Amino acid sequence: MSILIKNGRVVTATDDYIADVFIEGETIKAIGKDLNVTADQIIDATGKLVMPGGIDPHVHLDMPFMGTYSSDNYETGTRAALFGGTTTVIDFILQKQGNSLRAALDEWNSRANGNAVGDYSFHMAVTDFNEDTKKEIKDIIEKEGISSFKTFMAYKGALMIDDRQMIGLMQEVKKHGGLINVHATNGDMIDFLVAKNKAEGKLAPLYHYLSQPEVTEAEASGRFADMANYTGCPGYIVHLTCEGALNAVRNATRRNQKVFVETCIQYLILDASLYEKDFEGAKWVMSPPLREKKDQSTLWAGINQGLVNVVATDHCPFMWEQKLMGKDDFSKIPNGHPAIENRMELLFSEGVKKGKISLNKFVEVASTNAAKIFGMFPKKGTVAVGSDADIILFDADEKHTLSAKTHHMNVDYSGYEGWEVTGKVKTVLLRGKVVIDDNACLVEKGYGQFVKRNKVAGTI
Ligand code: URP
Ligand code: ZN
Ligand code: ZN
Repeated sequence: MSILIKNGRVVTATDDYIADVFIEGETIKAIGKDLNVTADQIIDATGKLVMPGGIDPHVHLDMPFMGTYSSDNYETGTRAALFGGTTTVIDFILQKQGNSLRAALDEWNSRANGNAVGDYSFHMAVTDFNEDTKKEIKDIIEKEGISSFKTFMAYKGALMIDDRQMIGLMQEVKKHGGLINVHATNGDMIDFLVAKNKAEGKLAPLYHYLSQPEVTEAEASGRFADMANYTGCPGYIVHLTCEGALNAVRNATRRNQKVFVETCIQYLILDASLYEKDFEGAKWVMSPPLREKKDQSTLWAGINQGLVNVVATDHCPFMWEQKLMGKDDFSKIPNGHPAIENRMELLFSEGVKKGKISLNKFVEVASTNAAKIFGMFPKKGTVAVGSDADIILFDADEKHTLSAKTHHMNVDYSGYEGWEVTGKVKTVLLRGKVVIDDNACLVEKGYGQFVKRNKVAGTI
């Protein structure tokens, strides 16, 4: 099967030009003006942006968490991602404390295999680092193609590791060419504040926010950067939200250390005033919580300064009924919000259309950097000869409104209900196949493939 995408405006992280893109099988075979080729299918992309499929390196599909499961599974989650122009996601395997990494990998494979519609990969969350786990690291990287290891500095008792384990893990991961991802918030400080608020009868969602002040994130981010510097291990802070935490990363650059930073679309465009809506605020109960307007400005600036490298989602949806588990106690509200489908269009609309970031920067933070950092480039993350034909055709001017009534995520509310967006994903190709067109998904579950990743980048 061959496809010729004609006359589109091809935009990558570095280039912007009008060309045809010729695809044979799963890969891009040629790019050029007025290509003289015959193809089985011709797609007229005149007036459209032709960009690499998005990569969301932070999603939680079908994840056991806080006494329930995130409501999108591999089928619904990766399909919704495709509708929104994201062709590859990276999900988190969670090791159960006391069990092996292999057991966790088997469990996640059983959920994902044969169910994904779009492509996916895994990070391995190490929640119990010991002599046995240590022996598993090399094979997880070299045989399984999982080169990034997630750590939690919070969620004590379930997911959190201490600094001693963190340093041991960093040394082992560095030895084998991997990278450490971190949820960088000070778990003990947060647990103290949660207990204090509850003891004072402060139980509304607002107190979720007030139990995780900026200092809890700034402190942990600085500590993580110090440990990564000490061990020489590449580090990546997930879902960074605020000025204090970004300043810790900025400080690390003064000793010529690169700590990769991911923020998420919600932290760029939503703020903590949403927690004042009584229990409706539960829709945005996530960790870390939404922050202040000044933090949004810091994050947009951080993108342009090259300090914030990736805009992800931390997609972790729960049905409203699940959120109600915390109706009388904010600490029981399952943490997370849905965005896998909305990320690219919101980032384009709020970022590119409003003049905060360039079109090339959009591609860089929505796709290319994640591919580079996590060892998938140039197979994924760009439009280039030899790359997988993961391509979106995007109408930069079409206006539409986000709503739970029309989205494809398996969740009965939207964190962006009624949000007016300019720019729409029209057609999506994944490995040379048209998977989304005219608001319809054209492939079934099982089309999505696991992406084995190479050793990670230390710099980009
Ligand atoms: O609230 C969140 N972020 N839920 C998902 C788990 C995590 O910490 O990433
Ligand atoms: Zn987290
Ligand atoms: Zn997460």
